[in-house]
Amino acid sequence: MKIVTKGFASAMALTVGLAGAARAEDVEVLHWWTSGGEAAALNVLKEDLASKGIGWIDMPVAGGGGEAAMTALRARVTAGDPPTAVQMLGFDIQDWAAEGALGNLDAVAAAEGWDAVIPGALQRFSKYDGHWIAAPVNVHSTNWVWINKAALDAAGGKAPETFDELIAVLDAMKANDLTAIAHGGQPWQDATLFDALVLAEGTDFYKQAFIDLDPAALGGDKMAAAFDKLIKLRSYFDSNFSGRDWNLASAMVINGEAGMQFMGDWAKGEFLKAGKVPGTDFICIRFPGTQGAVTFNSDQFAMFNVSGEGKLAAQAAMATAIESPTFQSAFNVVKGSVPARTDVPDTAFDDCGKKGIKDLAEANTNGTLFGSMAHGHAAPASVKNATYDVITAVVNGEYSDGATAAKALADAVAAAQ
Ligand code: GAL
Repeated sequence: MKIVTKGFASAMALTVGLAGAARAEDVEVLHWWTSGGEAAALNVLKEDLASKGIGWIDMPVAGGGGEAAMTALRARVTAGDPPTAVQMLGFDIQDWAAEGALGNLDAVAAAEGWDAVIPGALQRFSKYDGHWIAAPVNVHSTNWVWINKAALDAAGGKAPETFDELIAVLDAMKANDLTAIAHGGQPWQDATLFDALVLAEGTDFYKQAFIDLDPAALGGDKMAAAFDKLIKLRSYFDSNFSGRDWNLASAMVINGEAGMQFMGDWAKGEFLKAGKVPGTDFICIRFPGTQGAVTFNSDQFAMFNVSGEGKLAAQAAMATAIESPTFQSAFNVVKGSVPARTDVPDTAFDDCGKKGIKDLAEANTNGTLFGSMAHGHAAPASVKNATYDVITAVVNGEYSDGATAAKALADAVAAAQ
């Protein structure tokens, strides 16, 4: 589906690319930002580009986590007609670069000094073979809990810091006739929760299991313990969790039907869109047991190989707009994420955003910042999908004990490599 939201003819200014001469054409952007909060954030980008005279041709492909968007992308590239820019995550960017499908943003990056301000953890995905191929727009993290403040107050008022405290709060919420956990049963959402459970078993363990893909860690006792906790937590889901979109789960917490949601900080975009205020209507905490550590995913816009100076100028102009510090602040305040550059002040961010920025910087310094497995920043898609299969089978009740699930995970990951 293509929706033209702003035509070239209405361009307000002449946009000049780095080459100096070409006028930037409209950008066609493939993305999966279709929820209320996501669309509001995307609008910040559309309006920023419009103010520079660059029109926007929208190619939305709904589906959190981006799996459907990646399928649509494959079809477009196979047809020889790639979009100008594509929202993309982690290892997927590297895979497309390895296929030779991506363009080169070196000139923009050098002119604007990206090397010095974009953290190495992101550059690892934005660069291929030493060349810039994508522009990171944000940093999200997956180990958050979004709690309805009134529901927490009614459940004793203390935010849980350990797994046992979490269970006590969930029991109290259940006793208050709430759905304690708002969950959407889709593989990527199941895996988002599991990121946090694995991280809670220890930062070294997360790295061994999900980054190094060590078979002993994947199939061992700590993984079994993480799966046992997942089995415990699923008992607090409502009976309609299966297939539910993540933003509908957020809405259950927003309207007080449910107590909490385990989700990345894009969920905050939904709370803000609904007019809710952090600290008053909802609170954000790190998943119990993961304080001090961060599992991240960074949305980047990968630029495909296109021909024609106008198209190249549009890619350069879009990349410049995305990395501008003013835009980084304005966009991420709405999206729920934190800036992809280290030099953006936190002044405009709410308390959750300020915490996100601080947590990220500290985790980066302390060596406790890791790519999210659920969102394609820990391992390539084949491995990620293998973990999805086992995690979702556990959520769907196919395993009754964590040890068996851990063995299945080790086997699935081995077969996927
Ligand atoms: C993630 C993406 C986020 C958010 C989320 C739900 O993969 O990085 O920006 O959009 O999916 O759609």
